[in-house]
Amino acid sequence: MNAISELSYLGIVSPAYEEWIGYGTNVLGAEAAPAGPDGATRLRVDDMGYRIAVHPGEEDRLGYVGWGVANERHLAEFVAHLRSHGVEVHHADEQTIAERQAADVYWFADPFGIRHELAWGRSSYPGTFTPGRRLEGKGFVTGDLGLGHVVLIVPDIEAANAFYADVLGFRLSDRIISDIFNLRFYHCNERHHSLAVAHIPGMVGINHLMLEVRDFDDLGHCIDLCGENDVDILLSLGRHTNDLMTSIYIATPSGMQVEYGYGGLRVDDLTWIARTNHHPSIWGHHRSERYMTAPPGIVHKFEGQATR
Ligand SMILES: [Fe+2]
Repeated sequence: MNAISELSYLGIVSPAYEEWIGYGTNVLGAEAAPAGPDGATRLRVDDMGYRIAVHPGEEDRLGYVGWGVANERHLAEFVAHLRSHGVEVHHADEQTIAERQAADVYWFADPFGIRHELAWGRSSYPGTFTPGRRLEGKGFVTGDLGLGHVVLIVPDIEAANAFYADVLGFRLSDRIISDIFNLRFYHCNERHHSLAVAHIPGMVGINHLMLEVRDFDDLGHCIDLCGENDVDILLSLGRHTNDLMTSIYIATPSGMQVEYGYGGLRVDDLTWIARTNHHPSIWGHHRSERYMTAPPGIVHKFEGQATR
């Protein structure tokens, strides 16, 4: 089945949208792109027109997760596939398609009301990415692997798996299950995971976006820059058991977290076997006080039943 090829973009809504310009450029090393029509802060991490949009709004909210599909034929076939499974798929209006800098966009809500978009043919400007601060490795690991990964918080991980794996076609990479964690990780290309879901009863939202730098020193610089820019490091430097990413988790102006990582694992779908890990990290990733007390991202209460 032709399906999702990459995490292409992410949109959140936040009253702190303007703070993302300084945060994105000085700390993350992203490049500020021209603002969106509603004033949204737009950040580039590669030659794509933009990858991250932070729209103005009264409270922090996950706007949409944008998935990239290879071409128009794959998109048409995938939309038909989703509709055959009873998913209500909408064609985006012209304004939205233009805003996403895409050739075409469809969207649907998952069983928990999170908006997912499917886009193909987004605008790219090869050779133009200019990091917002010194990046030794000249940038981020994107390309065929997409923007990075998102970890969503869901109230029902079984319903989530039934939708993301069985309907959307994400392939299970592995699970992390312990007395406090219940997560599933999925790939749609060679990146170990482009999507993960964490089970938190009664909650829905986004925990973090992961960005992967090309050079280990750029992760080190980020640690220094968090100190200089008063950005909280929520989880200390550590290395994950499943994707072997060496990373820190840092606060953003908007409640969600950014995992800033280096050296993530690639998977070969032909030979990959899903395992269950019982610890998220081999070493490190020690929790700060703020991590223990703050909400686990941009989350809201989920009331009622999953819609599928
Ligand atoms: Fe992550």
